[in-house]
Amino acid sequence: EAERMRVSVIGTGYLGATTAACLAEMGYEVMGLDVDEAKIDLLRSGKVPFYEPGLADLLTENLRTGRLHFTTDFPEVAAFADLHLICVGTPQRDESGAADLKYVNSAIDNLAPHLTRPTVVVGRSTVPVGTAATLAARLCALAPVGEEAELGWSPEFLREGFGVEDTLRPNRIVLGTDSPRVEKAVRALWQQQVDEGIPFLVTDLQTAELVKVSANAFLATKISFINAMAEVSEVAGADVIQLAEALSYDDRIGGKFLGPGLGFGGGCLPKDIRAFMARADELGVEPALSFLREVDAINQRRRARTIDIARQLIGGNFAGCTVTVLGAAFKPNSDDIRDSPALDVASTIASLGAHVTVYDPQALERAREAHPELNYADSMLDAARDADVVLLLTEWAEFREANPEELAAVVAQKRIVDGRNALDPIYWRASGWTYRALGRQ
Ligand code: UDX
Repeated sequence: EAERMRVSVIGTGYLGATTAACLAEMGYEVMGLDVDEAKIDLLRSGKVPFYEPGLADLLTENLRTGRLHFTTDFPEVAAFADLHLICVGTPQRDESGAADLKYVNSAIDNLAPHLTRPTVVVGRSTVPVGTAATLAARLCALAPVGEEAELGWSPEFLREGFGVEDTLRPNRIVLGTDSPRVEKAVRALWQQQVDEGIPFLVTDLQTAELVKVSANAFLATKISFINAMAEVSEVAGADVIQLAEALSYDDRIGGKFLGPGLGFGGGCLPKDIRAFMARADELGVEPALSFLREVDAINQRRRARTIDIARQLIGGNFAGCTVTVLGAAFKPNSDDIRDSPALDVASTIASLGAHVTVYDPQALERAREAHPELNYADSMLDAARDADVVLLLTEWAEFREANPEELAAVVAQKRIVDGRNALDPIYWRASGWTYRALGRQ
């Protein structure tokens, strides 16, 4: 017990807060650091600043056991831990799509000067390939202990909404390092997972960085592939849902991430493929990733197509129409609205002159702040009142299970666009609805 490993987690956003709470749950002494005092105050009082099922319980429980601490002070974490995990964000910098590394750089710059004994620093953030090698040199140069401050890179693959599960039981652990000491520390950290048979791969720094961005690029490509098939299906008279099912039985293809609809959004897939392309450009291998431009374009076209279908349904012009949008989060079981396809569509329709009312079970507060031009309702039925058309854009269970009769009683016109292929067309049409979906007749 006295030998319990002490770990610091730098950055307590979605990734860091989840990582810190999970490591404490695994039995380690954990200190989370953030430069945002308000966030640290919230976490200290057991509150999670975003919606993530199960996380608040882990946080409260481990604050109670005393294994989990939070601070804003770099000297304090440097004194506390011999292993530091960098979990800060790497947002999109500008129109170029490149990643903004200011938070990872400042994490290293703030931590390094306090490292006076041998220390392992492990990056978990998603970074452009080549970043870790630069940071490793910077760390040694700035740390009083010099080369005994060592840096490895270990990307995470958390899905929002499943962050706790994906941290405690990841499908693989990847570590980029050539240092036996870094490997030993990180292997010890995940010993429970390794004992459960979870693969632990040690690579060089560059490969570890690439694993993360290429995994996200592959997932985005798979979604855009099926959405491209949806485009073809629409004009060819085929049904993309049946097509996807038939493809899924080939286990070389598999059925996951083959769900056609409005496409991908969120804080990861869109920004990561753009940053990956920007990095390939810098490395002079732009053609290797030019297909990702197409992946992005297909994804954007689904948003435009959803708007077109709705426009057709209401007779060609949004001006003066009442439109209901079900969903604001980029995916269900999340309150994250970053690059949300639902809000993008809602806001475009509003700019075309419609009166748009949005409802979402979790993301209303964030949507209100980011899109004051839209109207919001506190329930599905309130949002649907007097609608000329209803658009289902995020497939929350509440919408999947919606009762077409109940909704029919409040709308002006029984027209629905199912942007996520979440509803049963036969059931809805039987209740008198004009039902339209992406990739189907
Ligand atoms: C993703 C990766 O899954 C995760 O491994 C990585 O660490 C971070 O990025 P996340 O952004 O939480 O996770 O969302 P994810 O569940 O992957 O969904 C991404 C988007 O794709 C959502 O907008 C979702 O609606 C969309 N999607 C997903 C589809 O349109 N079709 C599908 O079949 C699957």
